[in-house]
Amino acid sequence: MNFKENIANLLAENIKDISYEEILLSIEIPPDSSKGDFAFPCFRLSKALKKAPNIIATELSQSMIKPDYIEKIETVAGYLNFFVGRANYVKNILEGNYLDITKTGNKQVILIDYASLNIAKPFHIGHIKNVVVGDSLYRIFKFLGYNCIGINHLGDWGTQFGKLIVAYRKWGNKEEVENKGIVELLRLYIKFHDEAEKDPTLNDQGREWFSKIEKGDKEAIDIWNWFKDISLDYFNMLCDKLDIHMDYFIGESFYMDKLSSLIDTLSSKGILTESEGAQIISLDEYNLPPCLVLKKDGSSLYATRDLAAAIYRKNEFNFDKCIYITASEQKLHFNQVFKSLEKAGYTWANKLIHIAHGLVNLESGKISTRNGNIITLEEWIDEATEKTLKIIEEKNPALSNKLKVAEQVGIGAIIFSNLFYNSGKDVTFSWETALRFDGETGPYVQYTHSRCCSLMRKNEADIDVSHVDFSLLIDDTSFELVKLISSFPDSIISSAEKYEPMYIARHLIEICKAFNKFYNEYAILVDDAKVKNTRLYLVNAVRNVLREGLNLLCIKAPEEM
Ligand code: ARG
Repeated sequence: MNFKENIANLLAENIKDISYEEILLSIEIPPDSSKGDFAFPCFRLSKALKKAPNIIATELSQSMIKPDYIEKIETVAGYLNFFVGRANYVKNILEGNYLDITKTGNKQVILIDYASLNIAKPFHIGHIKNVVVGDSLYRIFKFLGYNCIGINHLGDWGTQFGKLIVAYRKWGNKEEVENKGIVELLRLYIKFHDEAEKDPTLNDQGREWFSKIEKGDKEAIDIWNWFKDISLDYFNMLCDKLDIHMDYFIGESFYMDKLSSLIDTLSSKGILTESEGAQIISLDEYNLPPCLVLKKDGSSLYATRDLAAAIYRKNEFNFDKCIYITASEQKLHFNQVFKSLEKAGYTWANKLIHIAHGLVNLESGKISTRNGNIITLEEWIDEATEKTLKIIEEKNPALSNKLKVAEQVGIGAIIFSNLFYNSGKDVTFSWETALRFDGETGPYVQYTHSRCCSLMRKNEADIDVSHVDFSLLIDDTSFELVKLISSFPDSIISSAEKYEPMYIARHLIEICKAFNKFYNEYAILVDDAKVKNTRLYLVNAVRNVLREGLNLLCIKAPEEM
């Protein structure tokens, strides 16, 4: 039984001015149970009925016949507050399938473009946000029944690859690249830029080598492919570590042979204009600077490839939504691409969504090491693992699998600190805060989950549903916990609707706080079989919800830590 829907039905029988759906949407769950378990605000009806909200509330409460599952209905300050019969409510929630959400996705296709690294550049700590927001949304939408497709729009085209080849031929060698991989490629890249400041002709050489790639010159293509493979190996290594899954790698170079037909289409629609020798789409009507489609020399740009990619994706995957996740500095770029497609008459342009995420800073203020190198993602993960291992050595030296758990918790700390706030917000990361086992952190949720597992492990065989008495869970502390379990699906839905895993992260923290309160107030492994069974039954539900919640945030849930 779904209490919220039942209450909405009850209200709908008595209210004719707004629809059932609207009523359902406006039902709130008061943060404080003294204001009821569900509340309906009457302010919205006030205009239609030409009456004060508190009068509407009183009249409604008088005309409604209170069903059995409701204990009382109160009217306070324009609200109708519903108090459910607690024992019945607890039974319904815990015996029911609290994680079984209506699969609203209905197999609709959602394409998510994320973790789209540029070849020859390692991920640095700022990239984590992109990767985990993307993968978390992928998991959330999949959970809701959408058909998700994760695409990596690899940055593998542009003059920078010509420059890299120049650098490799001048200052690199095969062995170093083979041994050090992406780190060596980055060194060469930085070296090129340093040298080019002194000798600008290097840039011309870079352009020449890039044009060799464009013309299919064997040597250029071989080196380019080799660098691409190195970048993909690196990427896959990181994905394994983070347990991130990507469905397709379709990089920018893939669209090169599709550009001439793109240009034909755009000009046949009459939206390409010439400006100083370049081809542009004017976006004056949207108050945006024009979208540059072809440079004077006829070469394409980042935006050109994105125009082609969007059309290809629509034809190939027929998406219902296509979500792009990048840092906020690309806002204008996507705005221009989306509006250009709209101007070209693609009605599906409104199904393209850009999610701009903020930056990650370290507390020390720097995201680079002393010699100017960025802190790579794997260095960050290693450091997190090391620090967590120390904590585990102190707290639980006998733990088996210490290193593995330390990695899971270290990564959990990093991910959680990035998902706990609005994605758009910049995050300042501090080890001390992120690794706390008792704050608003990943390790806190993981620790609470492992605590539930440990209680269950000692007793799993003992739980006997016929020995469960739900009326033992109607005290405020236990009941709050049950309510948080029952409202967890709402947070999953909010996360999907707003493209913000944050709602799940925050809900998990609330559950952990409520659980730890429960754990401190009540002994669970007591002699009385009924009491023990009942409390364990609740512990089991908490464990299941925490595990699923962590999974939706791409965080592992170790059973011991
Ligand atoms: N490679 C780009 C970057 O690192 C991100 C690509 C995002 N996706 C896209 N379709 N433009 O900034």
